[in-house]
Amino acid sequence: MVTVTPFGTMPDGRPFSLYEISDGTAGGITVRVTDLGATITGIDAPDRSGTLTDVVLGFDEGNRYLDNAAAYFGATVGPSANRTLDGRVPVGGSVYQLPQNEGPNNLHTDPAQGLHAQLWSALADNDGVTFACAAADGACGLPGNRLFMVRYEVREATLRVTYRAVSDAETFINLTNHAYFNLAGEGSGSVLGHELELKARAFTPQDAAHIPTGEIRPVAGTPFDFTVPKALGKDIDANDEQISFGSGYDHNFCIDGFNAEATEPRVAAVLHDPVSGRTLTLATTLPGLQIYTGNFVGEEYGKNGHAYHGRESVALEPQYYPSNLARPGFEKAVFGPLKPYCAINEYRFSAR
Ligand code: BGC
Repeated sequence: MVTVTPFGTMPDGRPFSLYEISDGTAGGITVRVTDLGATITGIDAPDRSGTLTDVVLGFDEGNRYLDNAAAYFGATVGPSANRTLDGRVPVGGSVYQLPQNEGPNNLHTDPAQGLHAQLWSALADNDGVTFACAAADGACGLPGNRLFMVRYEVREATLRVTYRAVSDAETFINLTNHAYFNLAGEGSGSVLGHELELKARAFTPQDAAHIPTGEIRPVAGTPFDFTVPKALGKDIDANDEQISFGSGYDHNFCIDGFNAEATEPRVAAVLHDPVSGRTLTLATTLPGLQIYTGNFVGEEYGKNGHAYHGRESVALEPQYYPSNLARPGFEKAVFGPLKPYCAINEYRFSAR
């Protein structure tokens, strides 16, 4: 079931809405999304005694999302998520230039022009909502007349998100969702006690400017080893160059078992809050997962007047590896008329 309520107004006067999706199952989840940026604004998930709490950081007033670029709360980020070395995109025989908005590099396309800042078209049905957003050739610095689609669908305690994009020219597409989770409830304090398990035997080390060096490094023996569940806080302040480059965790992990032909997601991460018992299992068809412990979230006032700070949430961002065009050996996020973009992420909630 989907209910629609007014949520805010774009600077040009167009209204945007809040879509609440739930299949009504006892023990199920309720998901809220908005057509501004195809953004996830909230997920109510049950704890081990069935109490529902919103586990996604965000804002009560829709218009606060218009100024969302600093932290990208819940947003669909693209066409180019994460860092692109020198903002340089060699694709289809030409080189395109993304804004150099983090030193010489690009982060998340553009704060004002990215997909997170656009008003998407919406089509709601019984099980969910499909959002669509067109980008003309050259928009956001990238080639191709493109159509991006994101479908949010809820079945019991699972949110399934399907991304599709088509383009009439070869182009670069690396989408992600940027929801920040706190399984004890948004605004409830530190997430350093949350336990994380990653199906990742390797990660991509980065330089001081957060650009992957191209190395694929085994996690064994490093603070990045989450192959068995480990509290986020255990090694977050380890004396380690990579930890200091990220000011904590802000790194791409190489999720085991990537298969470009796969049509169903594989489990990438299991996040568990031992206090509430809430567990989030994230599955994806994508090769990488950026783990970001919100290290740079400054004091920010979110839902219910809650103040948000660093390390009070964790973003789990499925994506192609950052700067993949510049690094041999990284899967290239290049799509075009003969190769549409498709990715599926599932957020499966449970409690134990
Ligand atoms: C990046 C962080 C950045 C955040 C907000 C994350 O995806 O990895 O470094 O601060 O997005 O822009």
